[in-house]
Amino acid sequence: AKDMGDGLEKVLVTEEQIKARHQELAAEIDADYAGKDLLLVGVLKGAVMVMADLARELHHSCEMDWMAVSSYGAGTTSSGVVRILKDLDSDINGRDVLIVEDVIDSGLTLSWLVGNLRSRGPASVEICTMVRKPLAFDVDLDVKYVGFDLPNEFIVGYGLDYGEKYRNLPFIGTLAPHMYR
Ligand code: PRP
Ligand code: MN
Ligand code: MG
Repeated sequence: AKDMGDGLEKVLVTEEQIKARHQELAAEIDADYAGKDLLLVGVLKGAVMVMADLARELHHSCEMDWMAVSSYGAGTTSSGVVRILKDLDSDINGRDVLIVEDVIDSGLTLSWLVGNLRSRGPASVEICTMVRKPLAFDVDLDVKYVGFDLPNEFIVGYGLDYGEKYRNLPFIGTLAPHMYR
């Protein structure tokens, strides 16, 4: 495995734990979408890793599409302002859509995105996230598939970045406090 790299404190979720959880979630998704034409919508850039790994654990054939939205400015806290940087290529009218995310923190990104996608007339919109953080419980968001509920620490890896770095770590770890204080 890759070494921890500078600035990390500890490993929170190992590569093996992530893979095992994907297999469980994929089995649920396969059962729930049996007979349906599933469209996975990944939210760039953080969701790239979970999309790639989760999709390969599915027995179901599915399509993948991608959106890029910006919820954060240059800082590390959410501004609540969401802009579409890249829209879906496909028309989701009548489709069964499953949004795939790396993490739900404040929940602002997904609250906005779910509303936006629902307005396009899909048959269904559900959410799958690898990580959910505690603040997400404060927003009215129905999350069907959750990989891990983690405490409110600054986490990186497996798609999650700090200043665009650390996304390619195969595990989820915490950033050492001296990195962001
Ligand atoms: C991060 C993360 C989620 C969102 C969660 O994305 O990947 O998409 O923030 O935060 P929220 O629940 O507080 O809205 P970010 O905007 O940093 O873009 P990125 O995926 O390119 O890192
Ligand atoms: Mn993101
Ligand atoms: Mg980010």
